[in-house]
Amino acid sequence: MNKNIAIITGASSGIGRAFLEEISKEHGAYGCVPFEEIWAVARHVEKIVETKALLGDERIVPVKADVSSGEDMNMIADRLASEKPQVGLLINCAGMGVKGLVGEHPSKALEDTINVNCTSLAKLTRLCLPYMISQKTLWTADNSPRIINIASSAGFLPQPGFAAYAASKAFVISFSRALHYELSACNIVVTAVCPGPVRTDFQRRATGGVQSEFTGFRKHVVADPVKLVKAAIKASRKGKQILVYGFSQKALHVCSKIFPTSWILSIEKNMMPASSVAFKAEEEGKDLNAGPVPETMNTEETKQDENGGN
Ligand SMILES: NC(=O)c1ccc[n+]([C@@H]2O[C@H](COP(=O)([O-])OP(=O)(O)OC[C@H]3O[C@@H](n4cnc5c(N)ncnc54)[C@H](OP(=O)(O)O)[C@@H]3O)[C@@H](O)[C@H]2O)c1
Repeated sequence: MNKNIAIITGASSGIGRAFLEEISKEHGAYGCVPFEEIWAVARHVEKIVETKALLGDERIVPVKADVSSGEDMNMIADRLASEKPQVGLLINCAGMGVKGLVGEHPSKALEDTINVNCTSLAKLTRLCLPYMISQKTLWTADNSPRIINIASSAGFLPQPGFAAYAASKAFVISFSRALHYELSACNIVVTAVCPGPVRTDFQRRATGGVQSEFTGFRKHVVADPVKLVKAAIKASRKGKQILVYGFSQKALHVCSKIFPTSWILSIEKNMMPASSVAFKAEEEGKDLNAGPVPETMNTEETKQDENGGN
């Protein structure tokens, strides 16, 4: 039988790293076949090498890839084609966002947001499907392959000041839910995970280093990445198509279904940022998705927004 593997993108940091740690603990508990390899994908692969050493788990295979690069995606496709594994679990966690007004965004920031959050997620899923479906006669509903896509509660509603990110996460939710039904005949479970703010490096990156902590209402509802990941794995095991994590995000989800979007948007409009962090970062020549950034930007000049989820 072909080796059974898990693939986790965004494994170098935050939620993806927490998934890597959690899945590494599961020697056979996830489904019935233990993962023989865990492909951990990110650009800053040295951080994955560190995690691997820390966990002492030889099954972790660091894969250096920029998921928005066609070349790197081809490298993953070639690797799958030559090794022909059974992909038992795919976790699409790589993601980014840039806070600020669209009109002031560097266009590359918009492009990167869509490429990393939407295009690469859909592409990698499509790439993996043949390696998930191929051995379907071996599965029961309990041990069948899983796909976990990290969306966000930001995807429930349009979000002025974080427009492309919210729209990209709406794509992830819609794509995942449709795929859940498409793949139900093969017993493959697709779960869209929708957290609100989570304690990771995300906020710092999204604000070009201006803010590393959540502010306003959101600082009271920040989730712990490890707890989120445990809940996501549980939801996936139970065959759930969506996990909205935390009471406040569940309430937001219900509101987004009940109240007209235009009402909610008129409230959001009053909370829009006065200027764009992204614009300032571009002026300073920063690559907004390059990873951890130094805290050198002028926070006095850059009034940062406090609205919306992540
Ligand atoms: N933190 C939150 O408040 C929050 C809330 C809801 C949803 N989410 C979602 O959760 C996911 C994980 O974010 P996080 O909070 O853990 O943030 P994070 O700590 O900044 O981690 C982001 C991960 O994505 C990877 N990544 C970004 N661009 C990439 C690219 N072009 N190619 C390959 N990997 C890339 C990063 O790896 P490298 O930089 O090493 O490539 C990193 O491992 C994202 O999809 C995010 O939208 C986060």
